[in-house]
Amino acid sequence: MSTSTTDVAKVSLADKFSLFQEHYSPKIVGELNDSYVKLVKLQGEFVWHHHDHEDELFLVVKGCLFMGLQGDGGAQREVVIHQGEFIIIPKGVEHKPRADEETHIMLLEPKTTLNTGNVRGDRTVDVLDRI
Ligand code: NI
Repeated sequence: MSTSTTDVAKVSLADKFSLFQEHYSPKIVGELNDSYVKLVKLQGEFVWHHHDHEDELFLVVKGCLFMGLQGDGGAQREVVIHQGEFIIIPKGVEHKPRADEETHIMLLEPKTTLNTGNVRGDRTVDVLDRI
């Protein structure tokens, strides 16, 4: 087995974020093992959903993410994730991201993950651009 370094390259988050403007439309910027690294810009409210099989990591690169969480009993709470912080949403947990100002997020999640999880609607993005 040979190992080449020709495909090894660093990635600038600022450069990648400059390539798109849409909100809630994740872009693939890398992959490792069975997961994608994605970038997404959020502004406004998303939809409540969960992922039956995938855990999702949200790292706040810029701005502030408000993550709504709902437990089995219906109790809701909200976690505020600031720039430089991340949160992992375990599979099965109902969640709803929100951002008041435009917020830049790096996601790490299995390749099978659909952005709206168990809910299909106009926010669902089936095929993600690679940038
Ligand atoms: Ni999700």
